[in-house]
Amino acid sequence: MKFFVDTANLEQIKEAQDLGILDGVTTNPSLMAKEGITGEANVLAHYEAICELVEGDISAEVIATDFDGMIKEGKILADIHENIVVKVPMTIDGIKAIRWFTDHDIRTNCTLVFSAGQAILAAKAGATYLSPFIGRVDDMNWDGIELIAQIADIYTIQGFQTQILAASIRNPLHIVRAAEAGADVCTCPLSSILGLAKHPLTDIGLAKFLADHKKGNA
Ligand code: G3P
Repeated sequence: MKFFVDTANLEQIKEAQDLGILDGVTTNPSLMAKEGITGEANVLAHYEAICELVEGDISAEVIATDFDGMIKEGKILADIHENIVVKVPMTIDGIKAIRWFTDHDIRTNCTLVFSAGQAILAAKAGATYLSPFIGRVDDMNWDGIELIAQIADIYTIQGFQTQILAASIRNPLHIVRAAEAGADVCTCPLSSILGLAKHPLTDIGLAKFLADHKKGNA
């Protein structure tokens, strides 16, 4: 399973990169705004900075919601760097745009996915990645991990090549369960990635090893 970090914060991206386990980055307009990155020129420059930091796929989202606008923006985004993946919302115009990008060798990430039906449509259009938002599904009192497992089953049965990118990850357990359910990629906040390393017995065990070592050398 690939690990992407879900942020536009350059320091966090760098910290994730320094772990040596990072395969890419996803962003969205909300994450950009959170970092105070506004205005087309600044947003494009920020994507460029992320591409310079990380050797891996970088999702950059279109803002337009109509087909022509998405194509225009997607072409500009794809021109920034060969690692850019154009992120397109799951709408009817979005599906048409994904088909257009696929036919023109531009890779896509279909975002805001909440159902298996949407997953089938995006795969038919040739999306490179599919982003089911598991945390937001859980927020609705449904089961985000169950959705990942259902899509994984469908893609295997049907032989779809689209990679399942579990998004809206909120905690380390989401990562573990998404891996179990068949996600190809998890895009996570840095805190959830770091949380995977935590276990109190590791801390207790390490403290004991160090104390015993000290006694042995006293
Ligand atoms: O990857 C999508 C993510 O940024 C949305 O996360 O926590 O706002 O649902 P969240």
